[in-house]
Amino acid sequence: MLTLIAVVSSAGGAGRSTVTAHLAASLAQASHPVAVLELDSQNSIGVLLGLRETCAAGVLSASVAPDGWNSVLCETPAHVPLLPAGRSEAASLRAIGEWLRQDTGGLRRQLDALGLPDGARVFIDTQRLPDVIAQAAVAEADFVLGVVPVTTTGYVTLPDLIAACAGRAQIVPNLAAGNSPLNNDLLHLIQARAGDAVLPLRLHRDDAIGTAAASGQPLGSAGQGSQAALDVTQLVAWLLHATTLQDAMPDTGSRA
Ligand SMILES: Nc1ncnc2c1ncn2[C@@H]1O[C@H](COP(=O)(O)OP(=O)(O)OP(=O)(O)O)[C@@H](O)[C@H]1O
Ligand SMILES: [Mg+2]
Repeated sequence: MLTLIAVVSSAGGAGRSTVTAHLAASLAQASHPVAVLELDSQNSIGVLLGLRETCAAGVLSASVAPDGWNSVLCETPAHVPLLPAGRSEAASLRAIGEWLRQDTGGLRRQLDALGLPDGARVFIDTQRLPDVIAQAAVAEADFVLGVVPVTTTGYVTLPDLIAACAGRAQIVPNLAAGNSPLNNDLLHLIQARAGDAVLPLRLHRDDAIGTAAASGQPLGSAGQGSQAALDVTQLVAWLLHATTLQDAMPDTGSRA
């Protein structure tokens, strides 16, 4: 069985792609089966996984039907199999949104058909909420990671994120800056507003993230020993624990 993990946010530039790419690369480096599905028309996450060029065709392209996703699945230098968004246009985005809205379970069915290893964690990078496609990913996912920047925008858009995910988002604070009193205050406000939904860890603002993005290398290589690499290691440990626990629980059919 696959574990689908939607990575969402209500704030733009929150760090969804960064979190998606580094969690997936880190799991791959530790030999856990993993894949990334890019449901964001920016079509850029491949670069964070080490590809030199964007992919022409992908799951959001008009030329690729959902039952043809096998044809666009590609390997990346980070050893993370990627279903890229590919080039898209408004009409193809509308069509896939309509398909996902009508075909409950369709997203999981297409992913199951790819023959990924049993137990693979499939990270789904999304467009900023509200978005029909991101909403479908949330509905289908076993886990929803809500990336919230520790900024004023992150704080004021938090209720939208919680509502859009029907309370299922597990909040990952990003861009935390321990040496800033204002940033610490914002983090406390976010924790007070979202309560137990906020994970007991955070991603710090760290130049190593930019260096890794520019070089297309995993944090384990480009940012070895950095705060960000440590943060990602902790997040991976939490995620492995949480998803393994979920696998062990009987299916209560509680997914939205
Ligand atoms: N913890 C961090 N420390 C430093 N820079 C970061 C951190 N997280 C993200 N960034 C930088 O912030 C920018 C936005 O990150 P990213 O592209 O992952 O966000 P996004 O939510 O996917 O944005 P978009 O709305 O464009 O899809 C990038 O330049 C990224 O390198
Ligand atoms: Mg992004």
